[in-house]
Amino acid sequence: KRQDHGLSRDLYQLMEEANLFYQSQLRQHQDKQKVLDYLDFRGLSDDVIKHFGIGFAPDGWDGLLGRYRQNQSAQDKLLTAGMLIENDSGKRYDRFRDRLMFPIRDRRGRVIGFGGRVLGEGTPKYLNSPETPIFHKGNELYGLYELKQLHRDPQHVLIVEGYMDVVALAQFGVDYAVASLGTSTTAEQFQLLVRSAKEVICCYDGDRAGREAAWRALETALPLLKPGDMVRFMFLPQGEDPDTMVRKIGKAAFEELIQQAMQLPEFLFETLSSTHGTDKGALAKQAITLIEKVQDSVLQNLLLESLSHKLGMNSSDDLKKKLGFAVKKPQPLNAKGLQGRGTPLRLAIA
Ligand code: UTP
Ligand code: MN
Ligand code: MN
Ligand code: MN
Ligand code: MN
Repeated sequence: KRQDHGLSRDLYQLMEEANLFYQSQLRQHQDKQKVLDYLDFRGLSDDVIKHFGIGFAPDGWDGLLGRYRQNQSAQDKLLTAGMLIENDSGKRYDRFRDRLMFPIRDRRGRVIGFGGRVLGEGTPKYLNSPETPIFHKGNELYGLYELKQLHRDPQHVLIVEGYMDVVALAQFGVDYAVASLGTSTTAEQFQLLVRSAKEVICCYDGDRAGREAAWRALETALPLLKPGDMVRFMFLPQGEDPDTMVRKIGKAAFEELIQQAMQLPEFLFETLSSTHGTDKGALAKQAITLIEKVQDSVLQNLLLESLSHKLGMNSSDDLKKKLGFAVKKPQPLNAKGLQGRGTPLRLAIA
């Protein structure tokens, strides 16, 4: 246990050194001009580059590794930290090469991972740190530390898809966005956000993938919501993401869109209506399946009430009677329930 602690401490230290190295390369590497040109092309200001600690991993196999030539133990730890890759013949080399580097910080501000963007076209577009002893991406949110530096107790937090979205929004003064690191937004990430802000607004890209991400986010959020928790959804025009959008329309108009974001029940029922059209039976069935996931009985009853009105009934009692459902007594939300495993459904067939 003590040794684990020592290892983590060394990993944090090395990640910070790597971060400082990448930042220094942005200022002094011989290839820095092409990076500065790319930053310029993306419209990033010096201030926002500094605020997020954006850097440059130079091309070559040993930009970072070369700094630890005489230090085998540091090399081993860099491998553990995901900064080096070891091939089948045991040869080690830098994971991040010729990329724009976004340091990912934990809530205490420690660098725990990186996202590296190719400068221009190329695959993968973003290369991310793997899971390591100090980096569990499902528990972290890109930009949360930076946001908390500016707002101790934020009113609202925007969840977006990408590093660039967080950074561009901040540059334009919408400095309360975080990104869920490539994966879908997890229950742990939602829990963290619902705890950190009065209102959480999901703002994914205006494409098919973004709309699907919003629906997955709704399904993930449902079990852990309590009455008064505000989760809303905003939808960007086809082909836009928060980065392109805020550059196009500016802060005020973007915040106007945030104001208009849909409430969760509205998004839920609109999506179901457009999926099922006039088939109210199918709509009710899917709605019930979703509402069953809600752990909080007060919120669950509110949703049932809304559903019954959508279906043209007077109250949810009629609905429950008709469907043969009864609402069980609420049970306290536990750690297991949060992950949606092993908990009985609140709604059961009477
Ligand atoms: P997008 O494809 O929407 O990219 O991926 P983006 O953020 O708009 O990037 P730019 O504007 O082209 O630079 C959204 C997020 O998905 C993850 C990253 O976290 C990215 O920010 N992603 C995407 C990856 O991890 N790897 C990829 O190859 C692509
Ligand atoms: Mn708050
Ligand atoms: Mn996208
Ligand atoms: Mn995008
Ligand atoms: Mn983008």
